Amino acid sequence: MTSSSKMGAKRAVRVTIATALVFTFALMVGAAVQSLAQTQPPAPPTAPSKQAVPDLPKVYMPGLGEFMLVIQTHHAKLWLAAKARNWPLATYQLSEMKEVFSDVEDLVPIYKSVPVGQMIEAITTGAVAELEKAVDEKNLAKFTTAYNKLTAACNDCHKAASRGFIQIRRPTHSTFANENFAPARK
Ligand code: HEC
Repeated sequence: MTSSSKMGAKRAVRVTIATALVFTFALMVGAAVQSLAQTQPPAPPTAPSKQAVPDLPKVYMPGLGEFMLVIQTHHAKLWLAAKARNWPLATYQLSEMKEVFSDVEDLVPIYKSVPVGQMIEAITTGAVAELEKAVDEKNLAKFTTAYNKLTAACNDCHKAASRGFIQIRRPTHSTFANENFAPARK
């Protein structure tokens, strides 16, 4: 054996021993960690923090029935305003009613598998356009025809949505004792 090959053999032995030591050490550390984990008592449950339950967002989402109650109010006031020839108020009520219908389209497009969003478009659009024209022209006769059309549309949808027992009609008198429907004096 040459001296260089002797040195090579020694080095190989040293490397093997070193590897074995490292391996043993790793095993020991592993075992120590494991026993530590076993002997340590479970962490005590943390006291319920006041932050644990975040404040609920203060958002209230009305259902279709609630939207309809608002629509019912605008529908009644629209008639009372036009009958009193208070055209600015009629314009206002009509645009408020349109807004609520559009909210329903956005927020309750499908109600109990009835596509109310699409039905609003299909059923009310024509009557609403006629009402806008009549109010614009301050024409009570045209308004009355268009109003009857809209009221029929309300009931058509109620029937189609299995709510035929909700029957809308033209108001016979004002139920809003605290509101004057006559045109405002200038
Ligand atoms: C696209 C369909 C649709 C149209 C158009 C529609 N409704 Fe409705 N309406 C419904 C449905 C569906 C309900 C039942 C909601 C429920 O079950 O909670 C309802 C319920 C109502 C209610 C009962 C609310 C209550 O608690 O008393 C009123 C009043 C009402 N609608 C008024 C109207 C008026 C007025 C119009 C027309 C200007 C109209 N609706 C047009 C679908 C429609």
